[in-house]
Amino acid sequence: MRLLTILLLCGAALALENAVGRKPALGYNTWNAFGISIDEDIVKATAQRMIDLGLRDAGYVYLNVDDAWSEPVRVDGKLIGNRATFPSGIKALADYVHSKGLKFGIYSDAGSHTCAGFPGSRGYEAVDAQTWADWGVDYLKYDNCFAPASDWIVDRYVAMRDALNETDRPVLYSLCEWGVADPWLWAPEVGNSWRTTEDIEPTWSSILKILDYSTGLARFAGPGHFGDLDMLEVGNGELTLGEQRAHFALWALFKSPLLIGADLRTIHPDSLAILKAREVIAINQDELGVAGDLIWQQGASRVYAAPLAGGGRAVVLLNLHTPGGQYVVSNISVSWEELGLPAGTPAAVRDLYATADLGTFTDSFTAEVTAHDVRVVRIVPLGGLKHDSWRPWFSQTIRGPTSPMSDSGGTSGTASDRKMFPGQHSMFART
Ligand code: GAL
Repeated sequence: MRLLTILLLCGAALALENAVGRKPALGYNTWNAFGISIDEDIVKATAQRMIDLGLRDAGYVYLNVDDAWSEPVRVDGKLIGNRATFPSGIKALADYVHSKGLKFGIYSDAGSHTCAGFPGSRGYEAVDAQTWADWGVDYLKYDNCFAPASDWIVDRYVAMRDALNETDRPVLYSLCEWGVADPWLWAPEVGNSWRTTEDIEPTWSSILKILDYSTGLARFAGPGHFGDLDMLEVGNGELTLGEQRAHFALWALFKSPLLIGADLRTIHPDSLAILKAREVIAINQDELGVAGDLIWQQGASRVYAAPLAGGGRAVVLLNLHTPGGQYVVSNISVSWEELGLPAGTPAAVRDLYATADLGTFTDSFTAEVTAHDVRVVRIVPLGGLKHDSWRPWFSQTIRGPTSPMSDSGGTSGTASDRKMFPGQHSMFART
C-alpha cells in the first residue's frame, strides 16, 4: 500500500502550470439559480447585470456556465453547444462575455456523462481541453458523475490537468469531486480549487453542514489552491439576512471561491449588499492567502479566524442559537492569545459589514452577536507584528489518502499511520 501511495503521489507531483487562481475565484455560476434550464440569453443577461449591479467592479469577474450547455451527444468526437438553447455557439458566447470585461467558465465531468446526463470528458481530455482553449474558456469546473469505480479518482483529475497544461491557455481548474477522496491531500498539486462537500442548498442546515465538514481543512489551502465550500446561496431560498451574512462571511474567511448563485435579474437589494460587502470580500482576497478555520467554540458560540497579510486577523463571531428563542443575542469574545497575538498588544478593531472602526483593544474583543448571525471584524496590531505566531491548526495530525486500491480496505489507516503529508506546508504556503 505504501509503495502504491508513493507512486500515486509522484504522479500528482507534476503540478498544474497555469499561474491563475492565486486568489480564490470571484464570479457567478448558473447552477444554483437555474439548474439545467439555461440558455445563452440568461448568460448574456447575467453578464449585463454583473456590470449594472456593480458586481464586476466589486471583483466578480468569472461568469461560469454549469451543467446542460452541450448537445446530448458529441459531434465528430467533439463537444458542441446545445443547438436549441445556445444557438450562437459557445465560442460566440465566450466572446460576448469577454467583450463585457468578464472571464468565461465552463463545466464538464471526469466520467462518461455529466450529472445531468450530457457527455463527459473521460477519455476525451485532450480534445475537450483544446476545444475549450480554442473557445477562450478561462475556468473549468470538473464534476465526478458516471465514473467507473475501477478508475482511481486522482488519475481522472490528473488526466484533465495534464490536458489543460498541454494547451497554451491558462484555465483555472476547479475540481468538483465533493470531498469524497480526501481531495485536500492531492488536489493542491492538481487544481486551483477542490470542493470539500456534497452540494449546497439554500438552507441554514446545509450551510452549517458544509461549514462543519470543511472545518480542519484550512492548512491544506494556499495561494493557487483553495478549498471550495460550493457556490453561494446568498439571495436564494428562505435564508434570513443574518444567515446570508454568516454564509458569505464564513465562505470568505475560509478562502472559498465566491461564486454568486442567485438570479441577478431579481435579487433583493439587501442580498446584493451582502455580496458587495467590500471589506468582507477583501478578507477573501487577502494577499497572504491563508484560509480561516474554527479556533474556539463553546455552547452555541463559535469563533472562526484567519491571519491576514501584515499581521492582522480576520475574525467571525457566530451565534448558533435559534432565532426567536430566549437567547437571541450572545456576547462572544476572542482573546489575543487565541489569535496568536501577544497579550497587551494594542490593536485596532474594525467591523467589516458595518465598515466602522470600533476602537483600540489590548487583550480581547467582545461583541453582541444576534442568533443565526455573525459579527465580522478585522483586528490589526498597531505597529504590525515582528514574528507571526499564528499556528492554531499546526499541531493537528494529518492522515494519508484513502485509496480504493489500498490494502487497508479503503479506510484511512490507523493512528500509527498518521503523519505530516509530503507536499503539505505551513500556512505560509508556496508563492
Ligand atoms: C453536481 C455538482 C453541482 C452541479 C451539478 C450539475 O455534481 O456538485 O455543483 O454542478 O452537479 O449537474
